[in-house]
Amino acid sequence: MTYNYRLAAPEGLEFVTVARTSELGNGERLLLDVGGDAVAVFNIAGRYFAIADVCSHDDGPVGEGVVQGTEIECPRHGAHFDLETGHALSLPAVVDIPAYPVRVVGEEIQVGLPVE
Ligand code: FES
Repeated sequence: MTYNYRLAAPEGLEFVTVARTSELGNGERLLLDVGGDAVAVFNIAGRYFAIADVCSHDDGPVGEGVVQGTEIECPRHGAHFDLETGHALSLPAVVDIPAYPVRVVGEEIQVGLPVE
């Protein structure tokens, strides 16, 4: 099963404003509560990425991890994930984490979360 909501149909998503572009500079991240979901949003060289801030291995705060390129390392046990797709790239994680589409409307950064 994939959790890459970047591939989801727009009607299945609700875009929520999470920040202004001035609040998320190049190389920065925001760790947010979006409607009860922990979400980490990144600005990497002007591209925005959003993932669930809950590691699929043991619920670690994956969004706090070290980022290299578009890969992040969970600070708890070191599993790597692709920020673009949410794919688990290395053990001990074997299950993907949600990756969400991000769009900029005016100066607002919006994250697309699945409609429940
Ligand atoms: S909780 Fe993330 S690797 Fe274990």
